[in-house]
Amino acid sequence: MFKSLSPLPPDPLLALIDLHRADPRPRKVDLGVGVYRDERGETPVMQAVKKAEQRLWQEQRTKSYLGPGGDLAFFARLRDLVLGADHPAVVAGRVAGVQTPGGTGALRLAADLVRRSASDARIFVGTPSWPNHVPIMATAGIDCRTHPYFDVAMQSVLVDVMVAALGEGRANDAVLLHGCCHNPAGADLDAQGWARVEKALSARGLVPVIDLAYHGLGDGLEQDLAPARGIAARLPRAILCVSCSKNFALYRDRVGAILVVTESAEEARVVQSVLESAARVLWSMPPDHGAAAARLVLEDEELRAEWRAELDTMRARIAGLRQALAAAGRAAGLKLDAIARQKGMFSTLPLTPAAVEGLRRDHAIYAAPSGRINVAGLTLEDVAPVVEALGRCAGE
Ligand code: LMR
Repeated sequence: MFKSLSPLPPDPLLALIDLHRADPRPRKVDLGVGVYRDERGETPVMQAVKKAEQRLWQEQRTKSYLGPGGDLAFFARLRDLVLGADHPAVVAGRVAGVQTPGGTGALRLAADLVRRSASDARIFVGTPSWPNHVPIMATAGIDCRTHPYFDVAMQSVLVDVMVAALGEGRANDAVLLHGCCHNPAGADLDAQGWARVEKALSARGLVPVIDLAYHGLGDGLEQDLAPARGIAARLPRAILCVSCSKNFALYRDRVGAILVVTESAEEARVVQSVLESAARVLWSMPPDHGAAAARLVLEDEELRAEWRAELDTMRARIAGLRQALAAAGRAAGLKLDAIARQKGMFSTLPLTPAAVEGLRRDHAIYAAPSGRINVAGLTLEDVAPVVEALGRCAGE
């Protein structure tokens, strides 16, 4: 039966994990998959999360099933963190949603919801985007319409092109948006760009699907969430796909949620039933441990403050690395200034596949084939050798 299958290429980002691990060179730099590393090159469990896990171990009495929605108290806390407890949609009971296995699970449920709501709905996706976005949507049977979002050579967001593309949208089409810290560009819409996109969504009755995976790592938690909150307050409907992988450092525990802002409390009840039914088919129930730990952090004033402080430290370290890369670039005559203006873990450099290959082969520096680098994978010590290697390979 499996004879008809042909091998599929590995995911380009996840393949880098194995390649980097197998590289015997003592000094190697992993700028591949998006994980935050501290100045020692480690991805530690956050202290607040560790304390919550300890409490869970002591106090948890059962691991019996919770249901397709997962941990409802976790969901409510995360909803209030992301939207704000006083958000008009929260206050009016217009937010449906469930806990999901990471942001990926939320995106998959978003795709199912869009398709079940309107079988001919399409989704607009700006490119470049996270390489898993289009496959998730396409696997769920949604027609993906891509349009250019970012000019890598110019390091600029193509707002005019994006707004023109959305002008082709039909009512009930969806639009995938990066809430903040764009993956892979690091370049977000500015306030004017958001306003123009919102106007286009509103004019054509399009539904935003906002991917929120890096809030807290750009300008700060509240600032990073502001565009998504605003859109969810002013448009009748919005879908928010939230990941706790990076800002709670819960990567492998797979923690996330989908929040669906609906037009009425009654519509929210219907959407809730559809989400729970779709989740039941996909994974039955989401994994509990990481979400339970995140819930304890969010419920406890002290742990919450500790978590916020840890998140701020991560954000400040990334901002410092961005400044250091740009400064080292200036000293070396390389144009890396945009990196200092960009936000979050990633930037995409105008590197050819041959240059990326040269970085890996000759300098043990691992970047995504697209030229994306995970700035948060650097240490300050790495900055000078990485910039020097970029100077050598950039022309390839
Ligand atoms: C990334 O973009 O590197 C991360 O979101 C990890 C992943 O799953 O691809």
